[in-house]
Amino acid sequence: MTRAESLLAYVGAHHPMNLRGLEEAREVSPADWDAVAEQFLGWAAGVWGAEGWQERCIPAFVRFSSDVIFAQARYEADGHYENSSFAECNEHVYSQRDVMDDYLWGVFITNFCWSHHMELSLFFRDRFLARLPGAPAIVEIAPGHGGWGVWALSNRPDARLQGFDISPSSIAIASSIAKAAGVADRVTYTERNALDLATMPTASADAVICSFLIEHLEDPGLLVANIANLLKPGARGYLAGAITAAQVDHIYEFKTESELVVLCEQHGLRVVETLSVAPKRTLRKAQYLPRSMGLILEKAGRTT
Ligand SMILES: C[S@@+](CC[C@H](N)C(=O)[O-])C[C@H]1O[C@@H](n2cnc3c(N)ncnc32)[C@H](O)[C@@H]1O
Repeated sequence: MTRAESLLAYVGAHHPMNLRGLEEAREVSPADWDAVAEQFLGWAAGVWGAEGWQERCIPAFVRFSSDVIFAQARYEADGHYENSSFAECNEHVYSQRDVMDDYLWGVFITNFCWSHHMELSLFFRDRFLARLPGAPAIVEIAPGHGGWGVWALSNRPDARLQGFDISPSSIAIASSIAKAAGVADRVTYTERNALDLATMPTASADAVICSFLIEHLEDPGLLVANIANLLKPGARGYLAGAITAAQVDHIYEFKTESELVVLCEQHGLRVVETLSVAPKRTLRKAQYLPRSMGLILEKAGRTT
C-alpha cells in the first residue's frame, strides 16, 4: 500500500466524516494528488517513522480542519475575525510549542487534503516552481512547516534557501522536514519577524516564497514592501493569502482579490498570474466565501 492509500484508509477508518473532503482533493487531479501526497507523506514518515506519521499528522489535520470551520462560523456570527493583534496570536499560538506543533502538522496536510489547497499546490508547482531561474537563491518568509520551500529544493538541486519565521515550532518542524527530504545542507532557518526583513540586502533574492502569512499581519503592506525589496529586478515571488477566511490567528481581513493585487502593485510588484480558490462545501447560508489566493509576482524593472 502506498502512503497516499494508507492515508485514505486511515481517515476512512478513524475519521470517516473527513473522507469526502480527501476524495474531493484527489478528484482535482488523481495522478497529481497521488504524487503530491506521496511526497509530503514521505517527508512526514522521514520525521515520524513509517508507522508514526499517521498518528501524528492525521489527527492534527482533523483538529485543524474542525478549528477552521468553527472559526468561520464565529466569523459569520460576529462579522469580523476574532483576533486583531499580532500580540494576541503570538501569545496564544506562535509561541506555544504544543499548540503550534499540532497546528503546523495540520496545515502541512491541508496542502493536498483540502481540494482548494490541492489546486493551489498545483499552481505553485506548475506556474511558479517550474519557472525558477538557474541556481536560485530563494528566501522563504514564514515557512511554518517548511513544505513549500522544501518542495522547491527537492525539485531544484541547484537551489539554496533562507527561511525566516517568528515561531520556534516552525524552525524546528521545517528543519526536520528539510532533513527528511535530504535538502538540509541547502537551507538555513532563522527565528525572525518577517517585518524586520527590511534590513536584508536589497535585490538579493532570485525568488521569494511567502505563503499564508499576509493575513496574519496588522500591516500587510510592510510585508509586501519587504518582498519587493528582496527580489532582484525581474525576479518572481509566490504569495498566498486568505480572503474572508477566518482562523484563530488571522487578523487582517482581506475582502476581495483585488485588495491583494493592488497592495502588490503599490509596492512595485507586477501581478503576473493569480488563482483564487474556495472549498467545495461551505457553511449553509454563509455570507462569506472563504478563499485562498495564490499570486505570482514579478519585481518591476526587468531589463530583458
Ligand atoms: C499559516 S502558517 C503558514 C505556513 C506555511 N507557509 C504554509 O503556507 O502552509 C503562518 C506562519 O506564519 C508565521 N508568522 C506569523 N507571524 C509572523 C511574523 N510576523 N514574522 C514571521 N513569521 C510569522 C507563523 O509562525 C506560522 O509559521
